[in-house]
Amino acid sequence: MTVSSAPGKVYLFGEHAVVYGEPAVPCAIERRATVTVEAREDDHIRVEAQDLSLDGFTVEYADGTDHRPDVDVPAGLVDAAVGYVDAAVEQAREAAGAPSAGFDITVESEIPLGAGLGSSAAVVVAGIDAATRELGEPLDRTELADRAYRAEYDVQEGQASRADTFCSTMGGAVRVEGDDCRRIDAPNLPFVVGFDGGAGDTGELVAGVRQLRDEYDFAADTVENIGDIVRAGESRLAAADPSADPDEELLAELGRLMDFDHGLLEALGVSSRTLDNMVWAAREAGAHGAKLTGAGGGGCIVALDETPETSTALRYTAECHDVFRAELDREGVRAEGATDGAASDKRGTGGEVT
Ligand code: MEV
Repeated sequence: MTVSSAPGKVYLFGEHAVVYGEPAVPCAIERRATVTVEAREDDHIRVEAQDLSLDGFTVEYADGTDHRPDVDVPAGLVDAAVGYVDAAVEQAREAAGAPSAGFDITVESEIPLGAGLGSSAAVVVAGIDAATRELGEPLDRTELADRAYRAEYDVQEGQASRADTFCSTMGGAVRVEGDDCRRIDAPNLPFVVGFDGGAGDTGELVAGVRQLRDEYDFAADTVENIGDIVRAGESRLAAADPSADPDEELLAELGRLMDFDHGLLEALGVSSRTLDNMVWAAREAGAHGAKLTGAGGGGCIVALDETPETSTALRYTAECHDVFRAELDREGVRAEGATDGAASDKRGTGGEVT
């Protein structure tokens, strides 16, 4: 039995625009998905997902998604969860040269599904890591990030950037622009996350932005303007001392850019009333800035506030179902109670994917 975990993330800046080659800066946060994998004698896949719905579910199948048994949870939830696990299994089988390896897989996640915190990327990264280690073929982080990206790309039918999977693999703050992915220095920013209890459909939201961008030059300009915001934000981060607490001036500037970014995402049609209400509650409570994070449509916002004011205000906001502080996770994917001991030996500490 092999266990791996990988973190979720918030976008400081750049979601959606990153799909069209603009840069983005996601930051890994200390909320994890944990995947336990045990090799089977046959080629079946059995998936038990414990925290992805209120009751959890178990499915077992041998020959693709069409033959799954009926389970008593919404079909969309099962398809989303199992689709990513399937894609992770395919990548692990290919990487290990074991095309008919079967597994019992358990997914436990602290990251709400489809809420903008990178739950699918975390499940895919931890799943590929655990399955390849279980087969005795651990991957280095660069290959793991690349295979996790390919898995997400397949499930999202080509509408995925490398941002979520690279960030979840490497941890910390990262910068992604097309195939150029790297870790960047960043201080521990005072993130506050507000969750409306809902979820957005990433595929639909990305397709909606693509359509607007194809139809209107000003929508294409809006996407490019998000890229400009990211470049402004990363130059501010580069000038900061990553080992010190961020000063007021840095937080004020990053917050202003986050507000700007949210406005442009709103113009591109990916916000929602609940996300906007949480953003405004955070701003009125004195947050330096606030924006939706991830694909949007529902799910989470991220605000910058080193005081308790934003958390308190969100707790009293009708649309907010949950609120928490999110510390930067600098570790990325990790082996939990590894049985083979080989994975950490083969891994580097980060790097580029080309
Ligand atoms: C989703 O977490 C982020 C998007 O930019 C899509 C992607 O980058 O793959 C909306």
